[in-house]
Amino acid sequence: MRLRRLLLGSAVAVVLAGTLNVVPVSAGSTPQEPSGQSLRALGARHGLYIGTAVDMAALDDANDPQYRQLVASQFNTVTAENVMKWESLEPTRGNYNWGPADKLVEFAKKNNQKVRGHVLVWQNQLPAWLTEGVANGTITTAQLRDLLRKHITTVVKRYKGKIWQWDVVNEAATDPWDSPPEIHLKGFWAQHLGAGYIADAFRWARAADPSALLFYNDYNLEAFGDKGPGDKTYFVYKMVKQLRQSGVPIDGVGSQGHLGTQYGNYDAFQVKEALDAFSDLGLATAFTEVDVRSQMTAGVQAGDSNEINPRLQASAANFSVLMQACLANRHCLSYTVWGFTDKHSWVPGWFTNPPEGLATLYDENYQPKRAYNSIKADLIFSGPPYVQPRIPQNPKR
Ligand code: XIL
Repeated sequence: MRLRRLLLGSAVAVVLAGTLNVVPVSAGSTPQEPSGQSLRALGARHGLYIGTAVDMAALDDANDPQYRQLVASQFNTVTAENVMKWESLEPTRGNYNWGPADKLVEFAKKNNQKVRGHVLVWQNQLPAWLTEGVANGTITTAQLRDLLRKHITTVVKRYKGKIWQWDVVNEAATDPWDSPPEIHLKGFWAQHLGAGYIADAFRWARAADPSALLFYNDYNLEAFGDKGPGDKTYFVYKMVKQLRQSGVPIDGVGSQGHLGTQYGNYDAFQVKEALDAFSDLGLATAFTEVDVRSQMTAGVQAGDSNEINPRLQASAANFSVLMQACLANRHCLSYTVWGFTDKHSWVPGWFTNPPEGLATLYDENYQPKRAYNSIKADLIFSGPPYVQPRIPQNPKR
C-alpha cells in the first residue's frame, strides 16, 4: 500500500513535470543544474510566460542574428514594440500596412510563443491624418468615434485567435506631477470623446475577438501610495473596479514596470499588494514593459566601476522585486521586458536630459547582466507554498 502510493505519487509527478516542462525532483536527490535553462523554460515551471517587446528592424537584420536567436530561445510571449500602433498600421487613411505586424505573429507561431497585442487606443503614435483631421475640423467628434470603432474592429478581427492579451487602452491616466495634481483622464481620446471611450473600446474589442484577454495598461502602477487624489495606482484601481461592476469586458491590468534606479521604488510586498488588489476584482495581472533605467553620468560613460556597479545592482534588485511579486500573485500571467538588450532599447533615445540607459537584461554585446541572473534565480528558487502555478483567466462576457 505504502509502496503503491509512493509509485502513484511519482507517476503523478512525472506527468506534472511533463506538462510544466521541468525535471522531477524527488526528496534527497539533487536536481539538474537549472542555471543553463532559458527564462521561458524556467517560467513554465510556474505557468508564467516570459516576454519581450520586439523591434522588428532588429529582428529582420541579417547582421544581428543574436537578437533573433535570443527572442526565440529566451521568451515565450512577444509584444510588438511599435508595429501594431495605429500610425504604423494605417499610415495613410484607409491603407493598412499589415506586413511587419503579420511577420511578428508568424515568428511567434513558429517559435511557439504567445502574442501580446499592443496597442489599440493610445494618445501617442497616432497617424497624422487622424490628429490633423480632428484639429482642422475635417473629422467631427461623431466621425472620430466611428473611426476608433472601425480601427479596433479591423485590427482585432485581423488577428482574431492569434492574440493572447490585447492592451486595449494604454496610459489613460495622468501622473501627480501633471496639472492639476489630482489624477484624471488625459490625452487625445478623453479630450475629444470623453471618459466613455474606455468602456466603448473594451466592448468593441470583445465583439471582434471573444477569446482574447483585454487589458488596461499603464505605468506607475507598481504600488499604492496614500490612496488619496494623487495616487495613480488607486485611481486606476477605482476605474477598473467601476468598469467591472458596469459589466465592461475588461480582463486584466497591465503594469508596465518602467523603473529607474534613481528613484525610491518598492519592495516585493508592496508590489504584490497592488497585484492582489487588482486580482481581487477578478482581473488578471501582468508586467508588460519592464525595464530599469539608470543615469549615464560622466563616470558611467567613462567606464568607472564605482559608478556602474551600484547601478547594475540596483537594476537587478528592481527587476527582481517585480518578478517576485508577479510569482507571488497567481493571476500574474506574464512578465514582459521592454527590450532585452541595451543594444536595442528605447531608453537612450527617449530619456536624454539627463542621458539614461543600461535599462535591460543584456548589455550591448548580448552578455547577460546581473539583472538577468536575478530574475532567473527568482524563477528557480521559488515554489510552494508561497509561489503556486498561475490561475488561468477566462474572458469576461
Ligand atoms: C515606445 C517605443 O519603445 C519606442 O520605440 C517609440 O519611439 C515610443 O514608444 N509605453 C508604451 C510603449 O506603452 O508603447 C512605449 O514604446 C514605451 C512607453
